[in-house]
Amino acid sequence: MIKQKTKSEELMERRKNIVANGVGVFNTITVREAKGAIIIDADGRELIDFAGGIGVVNAGHCPEPVVEAIRDQATKFLHTSFNVVTYDPYINLCEALAEILPHGEKTKVMLVSTGAEAVENAVKIARQATKKQAILSFTDAFHGRTMMAMTLTSKIKYKEGCGPFAPEVYQLPFPNYYRYGGSKSLTEFVNWELKRLYESAHNVVDPKNLAAIILEPIQGEGGFNAVPKKYLEGLRSFCDQHGVLLILDEVQSGFGRTGRWASWQHYGVQPDISLYAKSLGSGMPIAAVVGRADIMDAAAPGTIGGTYIGNPVSCAAALATIQYMKDHNLNQRAVEIGDIISNRFETLRKQYPQIGDVRGVEL
Ligand SMILES: Cc1ncc(COP(=O)(O)O)c(C=O)c1O
Repeated sequence: MIKQKTKSEELMERRKNIVANGVGVFNTITVREAKGAIIIDADGRELIDFAGGIGVVNAGHCPEPVVEAIRDQATKFLHTSFNVVTYDPYINLCEALAEILPHGEKTKVMLVSTGAEAVENAVKIARQATKKQAILSFTDAFHGRTMMAMTLTSKIKYKEGCGPFAPEVYQLPFPNYYRYGGSKSLTEFVNWELKRLYESAHNVVDPKNLAAIILEPIQGEGGFNAVPKKYLEGLRSFCDQHGVLLILDEVQSGFGRTGRWASWQHYGVQPDISLYAKSLGSGMPIAAVVGRADIMDAAAPGTIGGTYIGNPVSCAAALATIQYMKDHNLNQRAVEIGDIISNRFETLRKQYPQIGDVRGVEL
């Protein structure tokens, strides 16, 4: 008997036939609709979505007020380009972001569409603000797939055959205590890694030419590695001593993922610039570069921007997402769920030697 193909199988076959191979796919799941934590696939099967669109739906699929805000904005206007015509939703979103993510006395914001674009623009701003060129990133970092973001990214698999990469990018080992701590205590390990950071001024890149250090406080694609607090504090001092900007990439760790708007807020270490995307827009393409006003203003008009920066529908979705997260106290919920999950995994770790580590925010 010939087995009838499912709708999902048919869709996957059509995908294979028409979509370029390099657009990777992790599994064969399809979607017809999604709500909360549930995906309904092309054949009507219910699936629990543990991927959340790669960290994008921290507020769940299609929260009602977000869908409503999108609908409402779509009936008013879809696009004018913020470089040409000024509109409310962009300004409102910048104000909301500056309020929940203050960077010193005065904060300024620019909006783009994707995480990688946020990274690109942060680098351009940092270079203009410091009049220096080099950027330092870390092993196991992931910062996106545009050329500069890819250069800053560590994982070779994402970069194969894509070079040459951007010049003036240097890398230091991420202070991964679980993997490389050996017999050292955490304090000894962090001191050792900070020594390496200070030595990098002599053997990796001269801070006189170093514009910024970019770090994910909790690495996402690199394996969910949280930076130790003392290391982040040390990094801040190093940056202050050498006139280097600290850029924290919160594209994956921001907006409800760790119980704060940004994971750096757990650490009490203030970045000069920080970057957001993913769950900020509940799935609509929106990203933000947030930073100290004096630094953000150093970029000359015309050097940052683009046709689709801060699309009004995406801005409306982001504003509604922030409000939804506030109304439902999703940050607190993340802490509570985080506690339940880490306690359960800790119990499992004690039972199963195959589980090496249970990780969360490292303070
Ligand atoms: C930490 C981090 N930075 C940047 C990016 C790139 O974001 P986008 O895929 O929206 O360009 C990602 C995406 O996974 C990320 O996890």
